[in-house]
Amino acid sequence: MSQHLAERSIVENSEFVFTARDLEVITEIMRRETGVSLTGAKANLVYSRLAKRLRKLGLENFEQYCRLIQSPDGEGERMEMLAALTTNVTRFFREPHHFEHLKARMLPGMAQFARGGGRVRLWSAACSSGQEAYSMALTLLEVMPDAARFDVKILATDIDPNMLREGEAGIYEESLLDAVPAAMRKAHFARMPDGRWRVSDEARRLVSFKRLNLIGNWPMKAKFQAIFCRNVVIYFDGQTQEMVWSRFLPLLDEGGALYIGHSERVTGAAEPQFQNDGITIYRKQSAGGRA
Ligand SMILES: C[S@@+](CC[C@H](N)C(=O)[O-])C[C@H]1O[C@@H](n2cnc3c(N)ncnc32)[C@H](O)[C@@H]1O
Repeated sequence: MSQHLAERSIVENSEFVFTARDLEVITEIMRRETGVSLTGAKANLVYSRLAKRLRKLGLENFEQYCRLIQSPDGEGERMEMLAALTTNVTRFFREPHHFEHLKARMLPGMAQFARGGGRVRLWSAACSSGQEAYSMALTLLEVMPDAARFDVKILATDIDPNMLREGEAGIYEESLLDAVPAAMRKAHFARMPDGRWRVSDEARRLVSFKRLNLIGNWPMKAKFQAIFCRNVVIYFDGQTQEMVWSRFLPLLDEGGALYIGHSERVTGAAEPQFQNDGITIYRKQSAGGRA
């Protein structure tokens, strides 16, 4: 691309000049730091999500913003940028068949194992504001109301610290609770003076929120019996998706379940080691072959 074209704002009538080069810098940082591929992303979308950051920082154009996020002092702003450009949409009991499968096919065995002194771990990888992890916790409490007495825990991780804070708070607007069955709502949510609803301590105690980048280091050594990794790898390129699926394998118990998003599919080297067990549900095959 000629220097001239590279310098033109690619967003019409914009408050800030936003060039193809700026989009390239931002796209590359997103790919490198989060795995999120903005290829084909509308320049308008990137512009509109970041324009408020420029306003807040008192910057005059995206060239200055790109200089900041590439500088050693720009780490905090890089995080803000990642948070602004990733999608955090989530819901309680999203893709309900996953929770039905967890309840009917996985949790009875896990409960028995825990009651016998076993260690049970579930993981909500890319948990956003916590609704997925709490849906897992509430399902678990249905099967095992005394879960707190045993070694049963849910790890909830995300790259975005703002989302983790929301998850930890466990406070949600009433409109977000529509998919929570009435009995569960009664048992596990308390209305706050401002009209929002707070998840019960019993459910919150089962969940630990931690920052984890799916394309970074994973400190966990112990295995999980179930991993929910839904609606995040869809934003990664194919190679990164395959790498994530492969990294789950050694962390999943034999027969353990992997739940993925409705438009996702396990691909690459990990695929033959998973067996389909329902729509977007996989089980890790045991050494003998079957899950
Ligand atoms: C669309 S939400 C999905 C939330 C939930 N799993 C669900 O299906 O409802 C995607 C989440 O992935 C997180 N995310 C994006 N890139 C990530 C990465 N490299 N590592 C960990 N989390 C990431 C975002 O911060 C966001 O909260």
